[in-house]
Amino acid sequence: MLGLLSALALASLLTTWPEHVHAAYTPAPIRGVNLGGWLVTEQWITPSLYRSTYAEDEWGLCNAFGKDRCSSVLNDHWGSFYSRDDFVDMAAAGLNSVRIPLGYWAVDVRDYEPFVSGQYPYLIQAVQWARELGMRVLIDLHGAPGSQNGQDNSGLIGPVLFPSNETNAERSINVLRNLTEEFSQDMYGDTVMGIELLNEPRLSSNGTDDDFPMAQLKNFYTDGAHTIRSNDINDNINVTVHDAFWGVSYWANYDPTDSEATSPANMLTLDSHQYYAFAQQAAYNHDQILESICNTSQQLKQPQQQTGIPPTLVGEFSLQTGSSSPHGSEGSDEDQARRTWYRLFFESQIVGYSPNDAGQSSIGWMYW
Ligand SMILES: *[C@@H]1O[C@H](CO)[C@@H](O)[C@H](O)[C@H]1NC(C)=O
Ligand SMILES: *[C@@H]1O[C@H](CO)[C@@H](O)[C@H](O)[C@H]1NC(C)=O
Ligand SMILES: *[C@@H]1O[C@H](CO)[C@@H](O)[C@H](O)[C@H]1NC(C)=O
Ligand SMILES: *[C@@H]1O[C@H](CO)[C@@H](O)[C@H](O)[C@H]1NC(C)=O
Ligand SMILES: *[C@@H]1O[C@H](CO)[C@@H](O)[C@H](O)[C@H]1NC(C)=O
Repeated sequence: MLGLLSALALASLLTTWPEHVHAAYTPAPIRGVNLGGWLVTEQWITPSLYRSTYAEDEWGLCNAFGKDRCSSVLNDHWGSFYSRDDFVDMAAAGLNSVRIPLGYWAVDVRDYEPFVSGQYPYLIQAVQWARELGMRVLIDLHGAPGSQNGQDNSGLIGPVLFPSNETNAERSINVLRNLTEEFSQDMYGDTVMGIELLNEPRLSSNGTDDDFPMAQLKNFYTDGAHTIRSNDINDNINVTVHDAFWGVSYWANYDPTDSEATSPANMLTLDSHQYYAFAQQAAYNHDQILESICNTSQQLKQPQQQTGIPPTLVGEFSLQTGSSSPHGSEGSDEDQARRTWYRLFFESQIVGYSPNDAGQSSIGWMYW
């Protein structure tokens, strides 16, 4: 969604993080970053790619260029935007994981869709680099056919048409099957720790005339979970589900393969994105932001056994707020109060979203 520090800027911050973040506890909390703007482009992340067009999403970009030129422009981007050196720097900074957003069109694109494929070899390369460096990967279906949220990050701005035609779910399930078959192979070891079925699905309100009701999302999650479990031959890949912004406690005791479950499914991860730049959170002042982080943290640090909340990753967060951005006017680096606030905001989040004891729902974080 939104983010403002590059992975490298984050890495330089992490080298100075306080000792208590490293509290002795195994398995290590997930400390990761999203490889945003790479295999799914977003205009605000790479304006240079979009400069010669009026496009606002990747669909529009490839529509403007045509498939041949889009393929050539995007291949240059995929081959240069992240390199092995970036993975080396991330590992050296103490990061142990990355989340890689992928669009369905990397695996399945139709002639009438302007999207181009060719991302897959780069995805494999990234997983291999992560493996060499002892890092883990969460692969995330960021764009589904029809769009699951109508936003640029899904590849296609507009209405949420994913739920309008069963073909869209079927195509998505085929992509999830492909990813599971590919990355459960022995050659990748246990590098891919999870596959996220669908990023940030935008459900309609709780009314009766919903276009994308929770029940339909849950049907999709059920199919996706069966697909991963039945194709993950080495049982390494956790089914990862986004909370759809309904809050983590809604998902207590959730098992996508058993609607009568009284405890969460095994090998299930919940992903909850925490932003202070959107909706009512954008109006919070600094004190309210910190209080809200504390509230989230207290919830995530409850024992799983007590709350039934599955292992939960904060798979996206950032330093953007409604009132300010860490990338401000020229010379803002000199503004010490501002720097102090961003440091507090950052450290509060990474401490708040990390477990400090076994058995808590919290399992760590990934910066966007
Ligand atoms: C669903 O999509 C498929 C493939 O694009 C199309 O053939 C079919 O007519 C659509 N069904 C409905 C009900 O719109
Ligand atoms: C998954 O899809 C990619 C891209 O089309 C293809 O290269 C790869 O062989 C597929 N993998 C599997 C296991 O089907
Ligand atoms: C919809 O209703 C459910 C059940 O009452 C509630 O948990 C959830 O937070 C609501 N979602 C939204 C977006 O209001
Ligand atoms: C994967 O699932 C296992 C078993 O339920 C759980 O202990 C672990 O925390 C999960 N790992 C991740 C990365 O979500
Ligand atoms: C934090 O939780 C308390 C207690 O439930 C609540 O009163 C307060 O409004 C919450 N603060 C924020 C900013 O969400």
